[in-house]
Amino acid sequence: MEKIIINGGRPLSGKTELQGSKNSALPILAAAAAVGGVSVIHNCPKLTDVEAAIKILEHIGCKTKREGHTVIVDSSCAERFDIPERLMREMRSSIVFLGALLARFGAGTVSAPGGCEIGLRPIDLHLSSFAAMGVDITERSGILECKAPSGINGCQISLAFPSVGATENIMLAAVSAKGETVITNAAREPEIVDLAEFLNKCGACVSGAGQSIVRIRGVKKLSGAEHRIISDRIVASTIMACCASAGGKVAVSGAITEHLAPIIPVFEAAGCKITAQGGELITEAPKRISRIKSLRTMPYPGFPTDSQAIVMAMLSKADGTSVISEKIFENRFRHVPELIKMGADIRVEDGCVAVVEGVKKLHGARVSACDLRGGCALAVAALGAEDKTVIDNIYHIDRGCEAPEARLSELGADIKRA
Ligand code: EPZ
Repeated sequence: MEKIIINGGRPLSGKTELQGSKNSALPILAAAAAVGGVSVIHNCPKLTDVEAAIKILEHIGCKTKREGHTVIVDSSCAERFDIPERLMREMRSSIVFLGALLARFGAGTVSAPGGCEIGLRPIDLHLSSFAAMGVDITERSGILECKAPSGINGCQISLAFPSVGATENIMLAAVSAKGETVITNAAREPEIVDLAEFLNKCGACVSGAGQSIVRIRGVKKLSGAEHRIISDRIVASTIMACCASAGGKVAVSGAITEHLAPIIPVFEAAGCKITAQGGELITEAPKRISRIKSLRTMPYPGFPTDSQAIVMAMLSKADGTSVISEKIFENRFRHVPELIKMGADIRVEDGCVAVVEGVKKLHGARVSACDLRGGCALAVAALGAEDKTVIDNIYHIDRGCEAPEARLSELGADIKRA
């Protein structure tokens, strides 16, 4: 199994290019199957999750081609509407293909995606919304068979929780439904807006994306489109945390400052100097970062759960005690025992509140990534630790971070993959 070796304790400096957003690429690739025709998707990051999505597209009959960071999808010949368990299992968020299959074929057979390292990941909101749209869903030993005998009907849907995946799945199923679908309490993440922009370029009629009420008027004809995926706000925050942890000053080009609005104030409160100039986001770390008294993860535009682990890693060396409450997923502190191996002083209460007593120094250790963002947190801590850290199971990191060792080497880190 591949691992990453980091010799920490050196400040970072320099500039690196920000990758395209994994969480925007996935629903947009699914949308390319919904619309039929040729779509050209630029700024598509090279990630194992994206490759898994491309495999699903090919399984249903799409032709795909990757030219650097551009993925071309020709879904005109797509004909299958089943996704086998082996492909569903590779990437948990493949459930978003169900909405695309329903829009294109009026049917879809997928295996229930099941839980993952960070939680049970239920899909009840997805399924109840599809049922409200006229989809008959039968579950047989983990396989979901969905059919819409009288077509997909637009309707009013009120989400009990502003679920990102459910919002995306409903938008996808609704683009060619009969009538209008109104989603109330929709997720407001930037990735929802990016998906809506792509769908509208394909001829869909989506309005209100990014707000709590999203309207989708079903249309008869949809075709492929060309689109550039937004940059990855979570990876941007990860690079910022690497700098805060190791010290120094780094610039990230391609960051969209507006998407980082919930994140920048946290880094400033920790004593970092953040400036945005000429398309670059510059992070300058203080000698020692200050504690964050209380931090809660919330749906956008609140502080993102995906940035919780990396901020906890940088706060492990803060001057004081920080309290972090994880309000979105039930098992998103798996990086804590690994950070403790590196000398962090963290205790978890009720499974969802972490009390981080800042220590002066972290030391290298042999640690294991347990999930994507938790794995990134270990790299953040390692960059600010004395001596050598070895991180195992880095396939988790490769799911969402493109060439992490190349990016961090550009910033002067002593890091290699073995
Ligand atoms: C998306 O996951 C992201 N993944 C996650 O990023 C991100 O953490 C999450 O949104 C929250 O922002 C992708 O976009 C591919 P949710 P998703 O549905 O859609 C509950 C990463 O590291 N819920 O908004 O699965 C659920 O249990 C990943 O890049 C239901 O109860 O998130 C959770 O507690 C991790 N029923 C909460 O909602 C449902 O039907 C948020 O989930 C659906 C969700």
